[in-house]
Order: sequence, then structure tokens, then C-alpha cells
Amino acid sequence: MILIFIQRLFGVLILGRKMKLGLFSTSFLSLVLQTGMCFGIRWLALSKTPSALALNQTQHCKQLEGLVSSQMQLCRSNLELMQTIIQAAREVKKTCHKTFSDMRWNCSSIELAPNFQQDLERGTRESAFVYALSAAGISHTIARACTTGDLPGCSCGPIPGETPEPGYRWGGCADNLNYGLLMGSKFSDAPMKVKKSGSQANKLMHLHNSEVGRQILKASLEMKCKCHGVSGSCSIRTCWRGLQELRDIALDLKIRYLTATKVVHRPMGTRKQLVPKDIDIRPVQETELVYLQSSPDYCMKNEKLGSPGTQDRQCNKTSNGSDSCDLMCCGRGYNPYMDKVVERCHCKYHWCCYVTCKKCERTVERYVCK
Ligand SMILES: *[C@@H]1O[C@H](CO)[C@@H](O)[C@H](O)[C@H]1NC(C)=O
Ligand SMILES: *[C@@H]1O[C@H](CO)[C@@H](O)[C@H](O)[C@H]1NC(C)=O
Ligand SMILES: *[C@@H]1O[C@H](CO)[C@@H](O)[C@H](O)[C@H]1NC(C)=O
Ligand SMILES: *[C@@H]1O[C@H](CO)[C@@H](O)[C@H](O)[C@H]1NC(C)=O
Repeated sequence: MILIFIQRLFGVLILGRKMKLGLFSTSFLSLVLQTGMCFGIRWLALSKTPSALALNQTQHCKQLEGLVSSQMQLCRSNLELMQTIIQAAREVKKTCHKTFSDMRWNCSSIELAPNFQQDLERGTRESAFVYALSAAGISHTIARACTTGDLPGCSCGPIPGETPEPGYRWGGCADNLNYGLLMGSKFSDAPMKVKKSGSQANKLMHLHNSEVGRQILKASLEMKCKCHGVSGSCSIRTCWRGLQELRDIALDLKIRYLTATKVVHRPMGTRKQLVPKDIDIRPVQETELVYLQSSPDYCMKNEKLGSPGTQDRQCNKTSNGSDSCDLMCCGRGYNPYMDKVVERCHCKYHWCCYVTCKKCERTVERYVCK
């Protein structure tokens, strides 16, 4: 028997009214030099940090995996932020898996942090997405941690300057986006600001895509409101500015991943910049993801290219999207198997106020790629 208590009808009402804020400030593509590896998202290895690890002394920073030396310094000078950054790495990993679960490339390579394979090291579309999501994710998590009071260095975001419409008033606790952007970019961009690491083209690409992630995060700030008044009459609403969930931001970035622009590193004016490869001269836009290397089709296993292949991946026989058996299995065909699902059933409402259900089992046919 499962009891589900019906939430009181009177309560929080989230109004999805987007607010117009001064968005899309100029993107920056700073100049950094040299060759070698770029360790831009190695910090995602923090997702594997044991949750019991104490982080209250500067020497604990050495126990964290995947940090470059400038991030190690930030750890020592901002110890109180580190639990939040570890949480951000976990959120980014989880969200990436979820967002790409219906695609041939399913973000499995993120598990390899801090030693990535070619899909995330070479400057492909997939790395463009992961950099953008990582930059958005770290700032998102810090901004939220300010709101919940988990960080000593920040609190609620500022109350907006404009007066709200009649029936609305500012209140609650806004997500502290400015603090999130400031500390998040300081930490996650640090590896791309190191001279002597990575090719310049790769670093410009990673910095650009990280900035796209932050722009989309900024654009996700919306008005959230809570109703007050007799029995939820909502005669007065208290409102604040809150960020959308990271999974929604990831869905937006996924669309940009699908329409990403291939760029080349070429002299423009006095310095070399990233410019679109196939279109005649137009600058790269601030909200488009860019990549330098084409991706494989991710059909077959190829470790050199960072492709795990789609053998044994589940596919959907009735879908005609990217998770359809045709597309997912690359025409190789698929094998059916039977799976049991447990569902709530025979639910009954009891006055007042709960529901009881039974558990029912049902077999369904599923398919995996050959
Ligand atoms: C650090 O945290 C651990 C466990 O959270 C605690 O046992 C220890 O006393 C703390 N040390 C200091 C110096 O605060
Ligand atoms: C992603 O694909 C790989 C390779 O087919 C598979 O081993 C893994 O379980 C998948 N991961 C998720 C989260 O679906
Ligand atoms: C398969 O795709 C169809 C159509 O898009 C969808 O309604 C259904 O829920 C999917 N099934 C599974 C098991 O994901
Ligand atoms: C399949 O694709 C067609 C167009 O190609 C579209 O109209 C239809 O909604 C799709 N069906 C599903 C279940 O996604």
C-alpha cells in the first residue's frame, strides 16, 4: 500500500513570466597562446569525491581530483565554496546523461573525468555542449546555494529596481546570479586562462562555449511568485527572480548543440579569431555553440574517437526521433527482450486528504541494438 498525501491546494504558484533583463552582453574571446592539452573540464572529476571528505582545512584541497594549479589556489582561498562546486560537478554529469539519453552519443565519456577521450578533447560539438553545460551548471549551483544560505560569502540576489505590477510585490529570496557567474567563471574558466596549455584555437572555443552557457543561464532568469490571500485566492503575489532548472537550460543548449557552427581559427584584423567555416565572413554569434572538429557518427565502438558505439543501447520501436531503433542502431537491427515494470494502480481517494494505491506488475517488450 502506498500513501500519497495530496498537497494542499493553497500554496506556491510558479508563474513562468520571463523578465527582460539586460541580456547578451558582448562575448569575450581573450587571447591565450601555446600548444598541448587543455584541461578545461577536468574539474568534473570532482563528481567522484567521496561525500564524507572533510573540506575545512586548506590542505584538504590536495585530495581533490582534476584541479589545475590556479583552481587549487581558488580552493585554498575559497574553501567554503568547494562543497557547492563538487555538487555542481555531480549536477552537470547527471544532467548531461539525462539530456542525451536518447542520442547515440549519450555523454558516457564524461564518466572518464579527469582523463577524457577524443570526443571531449578534440574540440567537437560534444565538447562544445559539455563546456557550455559545465559553465552554466557551476554558476547555477552557486547562485542557488546563495539562496539556500549554504554559503557565507553571499545571500539573496538584489531586489529588482522597477516597481512590480499591481497585486505583485517583491519578496522571497532571489537566486544570486551575479555571485554565481562571478565565482563560477573564475573557477571553471581558470584552465583556459593558463598560458602554455592547450592550443589557442581550442581554448578560444572552450571559452566561447562556456560564455554561451552563461548567457543561456542569464536568459533563464524568470519571475517566480507565491500566492497569498484567503484560501489561495492569490489576491497578493510575492515575487522574486529565480533561475530555471538546470535540465531546462540543458535542453536549450541541446538545441544549440544540434545547430552548432563549425569554425576555423583564422586572422581577422589584428589577431586570430574563430570564424564560421562555411559561411562568408560573419562573426560568431554570442549564443551559438561552435566546434572545430567534426564528430564521428558514434555508431561503432572506436576508442580513438571517443565513440562507445550503440551496441546494446535501448531503442524505441515506435519513436521516429533520435532514439528510434532505426537511427539508434544505425540500421544494424535490434533484439527484443521482456522487462517488468511496477506501477501504482487501483488508486482510491480517501476524504480527507490522501490516496491509497496498489502495486501492479506488467511485462513490456523492449529493444536493444544489435
Ligand atoms: C573538520 O570537519 C570534520 C568533519 O566534518 C570535523 O571532525 C573536524 O573537527 C573539523 N576540523 C576543523 C579544524 O574544523
Ligand atoms: C551510454 O552508452 C554506453 C555505450 O553504449 C552504455 O554502456 C551506457 O550504459 C550508456 N549510459 C547511459 C547513462 O545510458
Ligand atoms: C517511445 O516513443 C513513443 C513516441 O515518441 C513514446 O510515446 C513512448 O513513450 C516511447 N517509449 C519508451 C519506452 O520510451
Ligand atoms: C514522426 O515524424 C513526423 C514528421 O516526419 C511527425 O509529424 C510526427 O509527429 C512524428 N511522430 C512521432 C511519434 O514523433
